[in-house]
Amino acid sequence: MHGNARSPFGDNMERVVLSLGGSLLFDGYKFNTEFVKALGELLRSLPFSFGVVVGGGSVARLYAQAARSLSLNEFYADNVAILSTRQNAMLVAASVNGIYVQSFEEAQLFKRERVVVMGGTIPGITTDADSALLAEVLGAKRLVNLSTVDGVYDKNPEYPDAHKYEEMSYDQLLSLAMSSDDRSAGTHFVFDVVACAIIRRSKIETHFVNGRDLEQVERAIRGLKHAGTVVK
Ligand code: UTP
Repeated sequence: MHGNARSPFGDNMERVVLSLGGSLLFDGYKFNTEFVKALGELLRSLPFSFGVVVGGGSVARLYAQAARSLSLNEFYADNVAILSTRQNAMLVAASVNGIYVQSFEEAQLFKRERVVVMGGTIPGITTDADSALLAEVLGAKRLVNLSTVDGVYDKNPEYPDAHKYEEMSYDQLLSLAMSSDDRSAGTHFVFDVVACAIIRRSKIETHFVNGRDLEQVERAIRGLKHAGTVVK
C-alpha cells in the first residue's frame, strides 16, 4: 500500500485490536513522530487487519485538569479528554493508513477496512475499555495493550520487589484491577476494570507489552511468546 490508499481486503485477515497508550505518543508535549511512523511501517508489513484505539496521554490530562480548574464536572472533564484522544487518533489514522471512526457503530460499518482507528467514546471509561469493546465489535480474538509498562505486575512496577506475570487468567487480572482501582487522579492499574470484565466475558486473549519495543509488539500481534504478560 502506498500513500493514503487503503486496502479493502481486511476481512480476509485475522483481526487484532491494539490499545495504544497515549503516553507513547508524546515525550512531554512533543509529538513522537518517529514512533508513530515506525508503528505504521510495522502494521503495513504484517498480514493482519487491525482495530486501533488511541489514548490521550499528557494532552488529555492537560485538558481534563483545565476543565476541573474551571470547576466543571467530571463528565465535562472526560468529554474534553475524549476530544484529545480523538485528535491523537486522527493523527495515528493518517500515519498508519487507517480509517478514522468516532463510534463503535461506525467501526462496525467499516469492519472490512484493513485498519480502523478510533479514540474515546463516552465519559466514565478509558480507552482500555474502548479497545475491549472494539475487539467485540470487530470480532477480534486478540488484543495487544501497548503502554510504557512492559507487562502486568502484582504491585506498582516501580517497587523493587514487584513481580511481572508471564501469564495469568481473566479472573486474576480482574481481581488485581479491582484491588488497584483507585479512581483518584494519577494512580491507576495498567488495564481498567471495565476492560478486564469485557475481555473476560468474550474470552479475548490480551497481551501487555512495552509499546516502545516494536519487536515485542510484533510478537504479541502474531500471538508468539514475548517478554510481557498474556491474559487468557
Ligand atoms: P485514556 O484512555 O488515555 O486514559 O483516556 P488514561 O488511562 O487515563 O491515560 P493513560 O493510559 O494513563 O495515558 C484519557 C481520558 O479520556 C477520558 C477519561 O477522562 C480518560 O482518563 N475518556 C477516554 C473517556 O471519558 N471515555 C473514553 O471512552 C475514553
